[in-house]
Amino acid sequence: MSGPIEVLPEPSGFGAQVRGLDLSRPLPAEALEAVKAAWARHAVLAFPDQPLTLDELEAFTLQIGPFGEDPFIKPMPGHPNVLELRREADETATNFGAGWHSDWSFQEKPPAATILRSEVVPPVGGDTLFCDCARAYEALSPAFQRMLEGLRAVHSATRAYGTKGIFARETQKRTMEIIVSPEADKALTHPLVRTHPVTGRKALYVSPVYTTGIEGLTVAESKAILSFLFAHMTQDQFVHRHRWAPGMVLLWDNRCTAHFAEGGYDGHLRVMHRTTVAGEVPV
Ligand code: SIN
Repeated sequence: MSGPIEVLPEPSGFGAQVRGLDLSRPLPAEALEAVKAAWARHAVLAFPDQPLTLDELEAFTLQIGPFGEDPFIKPMPGHPNVLELRREADETATNFGAGWHSDWSFQEKPPAATILRSEVVPPVGGDTLFCDCARAYEALSPAFQRMLEGLRAVHSATRAYGTKGIFARETQKRTMEIIVSPEADKALTHPLVRTHPVTGRKALYVSPVYTTGIEGLTVAESKAILSFLFAHMTQDQFVHRHRWAPGMVLLWDNRCTAHFAEGGYDGHLRVMHRTTVAGEVPV
């Protein structure tokens, strides 16, 4: 049974734990509104002790919004909208997601949310780090903010899933079925600073995995600005470290955060189930 919702924010306000809900059942309208309000306020919500089936994970996702499109990874059999992020104990290939990124930012309408549920959590390592791209933006000088606001960043999946990308060149065994494709070599642009459609807050919208340049700038100029921004936004003061326990659901906002899946669990199995929620064209 869902009880009174309890939201326990991190001291910085970025990230919160939510207790008192049973996500295996449809949430009453009031509870769903409270979850959405907490999600808008804290960007990353952790719901401990949620032993969901895949069907229940899908049903919870659909309460947040319609499914997003997940390219380049073979979904779970019978569950076209669920990805299994699985790394066996004997795998030595880099763990999936080990680079700062905002999910599928190379899409025209990147997912608003990602939902990740832990099935098997290794005894060491495997944390997920999040950076607060809104607070990172707000910490910049007004003059630098103004300069960034006129820019559009180039996003592409090429470095990861492209024909010459990391997965194309990989030789070690990987359990997850990655689909390398020329589609991944395409690129599009989004505003470098985007405005959150719910909160109205501005946030940096770039990441080292998917942002390959800045429209209209030379390679050297793009590199200088992007390197500065990547270092800036991933400083400890903007980062929340999420530590997993089995059966935890994590809901994050891709519009104002970037994340990084930490390794450090070689020799141990880690299994997560992931869905995405469709988003809008970034503005
Ligand atoms: C990801 O979605 O990037 C993976 C996150 C994780 O496995 O912790």
